[in-house]
Parts: sequence; C-alpha cells; structure tokens
Amino acid sequence: MRTQVVIVGAGPAGLMLGRLLQQAGIDAVIVERRSGDHVLSRIRAGVLEHGTAEVLRDLGLGARMEREGFVHDGVNLAFLGRRLHVDFADLVGRPVIIYGQTEVQHDLYDAMDDRDVPVVDEALDVTPHDVETTAPYVTYTRDGEERRVDCEWIAGCDGYHGVSRSVIPTDVLRTHERVYPFGWLGILSETPPVDDELIYANSERGFALCSMRHKMLSRYYVQCPLDTDTDDWPDDRFWEELRARLPDDVAAELVTGPSIEKSITPLRSFVAEPLRHGRLLLAGDAAHIVPPTGAKGLNLAVSDVVYLADALADHLSGGSTTGVDQYSESALLRVWKAVRFSWWMTTMMHRFPNASDDFDRKLQEAELTYLESSEHARRAFAENYTGLPFNPPS
Ligand code: FAD
Ligand code: DHB
Repeated sequence: MRTQVVIVGAGPAGLMLGRLLQQAGIDAVIVERRSGDHVLSRIRAGVLEHGTAEVLRDLGLGARMEREGFVHDGVNLAFLGRRLHVDFADLVGRPVIIYGQTEVQHDLYDAMDDRDVPVVDEALDVTPHDVETTAPYVTYTRDGEERRVDCEWIAGCDGYHGVSRSVIPTDVLRTHERVYPFGWLGILSETPPVDDELIYANSERGFALCSMRHKMLSRYYVQCPLDTDTDDWPDDRFWEELRARLPDDVAAELVTGPSIEKSITPLRSFVAEPLRHGRLLLAGDAAHIVPPTGAKGLNLAVSDVVYLADALADHLSGGSTTGVDQYSESALLRVWKAVRFSWWMTTMMHRFPNASDDFDRKLQEAELTYLESSEHARRAFAENYTGLPFNPPS
C-alpha cells in the first residue's frame, strides 16, 4: 500500500489529523493497535477549550457537540471553606465546552469515510522505518500477516506509550519531566452534577474535582496516593472522602449513587523535543503529557495537529518545507505554556505529601487569595484555562 501520510494511533490527535488532511486533499492511512470498540470506550478528558470547539465546528463535526455539550462561562475554585467563581464570559469573552473525549472520538470515528481515510485497527507491532530518508514506511501485522505502507511522512500520534517517539535516536531526543507524588482517583456516576459548573477544590485532605458529562452523568475525582488500589475504594468510601473535601454548602448538595467506572491516573509533566526527526513528526501525548488539573491534554493534541496539518499541506501540495521545518518550534511554544499552566494549577490545588513545613501551604493560600482579590490574576487564569490562541506557522 502507498499513501502520503501514515498516522500511527487513532486517538484524538490521529483521528483529527486524518480529518484535517482529508480536508486539505492529502491521502492518509491511520494504523491503530487497539480495537475500534476499545478506543471508543475510554473515559478521559471532559473540557474543550474554545479553540478546540472551533476546530471541531470548522471540520463539520460540531453538530452533536452543540446539541449535547454544555457551554460553561466559568469555573469555581474552592479553598478555605469558600468558593471563588472565575467568570470567563466577563474576563475573556469566551467559554469552554463540556463534552467528553469519548464523544469527540465517536464523532471523529463516525466522520471517517473508509474510502478517504482508512483506519486499520488491531494493527500489531507497528514500526516506522527509514524516517531519516525521503522514502519512509510503516510495517505492522494484522490477522497474522505482515503489511507495509510506503509514504512521504509518518505522524506519531500514538500516545505516551507508543512506538513513534522511540524511533528518534537517544542522542537527538531530549526529554523534560516532572512526576508528582500523587494521582487522581476518578469515578463516573449516573447522578446529577453537584453544580452547574466545575468545582476545583483545595482542601486539607487533598484536591477534589467535581465535573460532569451531562445532566445525569457526573465525573468526580479525588487526589490519592500513587499506590492506591481501586479495590480499596468502594463507592461509599469515595463519596465520604469527596464530601469531606468540598465546602459545606456544596457537600450538602451532593447526590451520590453507584459508580459505573472507577480509575486512577498518575500525574506527570513530560515534554520531548524535537517533535520532528527526518520524516517523522510527533503530536499529542506521544510528545508531551500534562497533569490533568488544567484540562489541557486533549486540547494540546488538537492544537498540535492543527499546526501539523498546515505544515504537511504546505509541503505536500506546494513543496514548501517552511512549515515542517518550523513545526517543532511553533508547536512547542504553545505546549510549554500549557505545561506551565497545568503545573501551576496542580501545585496550587494539591496537598504535597512530602512538604516538611507549611511554607507551600501558605504559598497556595497566597496564590488563591491573590486570584480572589485581583481581576488581572483572574483574567490571566481565564485566558489560559479557556485556551491560548493557536499561531500556526504561515
Ligand atoms: P491517545 O489518546 O493516548 O491516543 C493514542 C492512540 O495510539 C491510542 O488509541 C493507542 O491505542 C494508540 N497506540 C499506542 N501505541 C500504539 C502503537 N504502538 N501502534 C499503534 N497505535 C498505538 N486529559 C485531560 O485533559 N483531562 C483528563 O481528565 C484526562 N484524563 C486522562 C486519563 C487517562 C487514563 C489518560 C491516559 C489520559 C487522560 N487525559 C486527560 C489526557 C488526554 O486524554 C490525552 O491528552 C489525549 O488522549 C491525547 O490524545 P492523543 O491522541 O495524543 O493520545
Ligand atoms: C475533567 C477532567 C479534568 O482533568 C479537568 O481538569 C476537568 C474536567 C473531566 O473529566 O470532566
């Protein structure tokens, strides 16, 4: 088989890149290790930045999001027993949209017409080859048979544990990492959300987040030690802990019920660079991870592929190498700002188990009360949370 771009991975980055390339008249094939059902059942992020929603609309994929998503004009930060409402509409004039990554994946999958962008699922041993030449190719095994796709470019959209990043030689690849000493225990429950908007809570007992998917589906998280086992967290224990971390007026409104999903996410910041090596280009979690506190992971995957699709279109239809040459630098400029925001919000909202005195705690209070007292600080928060602009290379 021959195509112009092989995309490794059918997560949000891979599927969206496929769709963007299709719109630009560029042929692509997506190869995915897992089954379509598995990819579509993963519960992950829930907040779409304004710019991400715009990209979905521009791609003709906004209809269900408009119908079923919730426009949120602000979020709440809870601390010291009280709540601060950050009003996005007032501060920056743009909202976020609550619409699950699972739904985005569905919309993207449904839009993939097999004739235009084939998605090969259950592809095993996917391996990029000859990325340092102008004739790279990808091999994989499907139904016991080895297959090969020749191409001009390979897009590594295969997440943090994917194969693509490892193709970059160790003396070329630089990585930057911060591992946090805690994770998030999350549940999904068919109960009404405790509030109309999200609540991020800093409490003596650790961080908690109240989120939602729709009117009768709530998503809640509590900060937990890294060695937490979900078996030790029956629903009653989860609800009791969550309630204890929320301001009293919020806790009083909490409606509990059986969880329908329970999982643990470790928190990590990670950035690999460069994002390009020869004819291999990395995007999304394959290149960087942020702790979920700022709700940036999915949104960064989208901004990367917007830059990347522009760069590939310039090269494949006009021959210009400017876009692909600048891709790594341009995308990373935006990535690092989201890494900073996610790190800052994580540091401000969590209990750090190894803190030896209350210095860090006092700094958290200072950060939060500064937000409370300064419209400038709230505007900077709102600007970052709703999403910094995309600046694709021209
Ligand atoms: P992924 O979604 O990881 O997609 C990569 C795809 O590549 C997958 O389908 C995978 O099966 C496939 N793949 C992997 N290896 C190979 C291979 N060798 N060959 C072929 N295919 C391969 N972000 C938030 O903002 N908020 C959250 O609450 C949140 N929760 C998360 C919870 C979990 C458990 C995880 C893992 C991530 C979470 N994230 C969250 C981050 C967010 O989901 C990611 O940033 C987003 O999925 C990135 O999209 P992606 O397409 O780059 O990578
Ligand atoms: C959700 C996840 C996040 O990481 C976040 O910051 C906000 C919401 C969610 O799953 O709904």
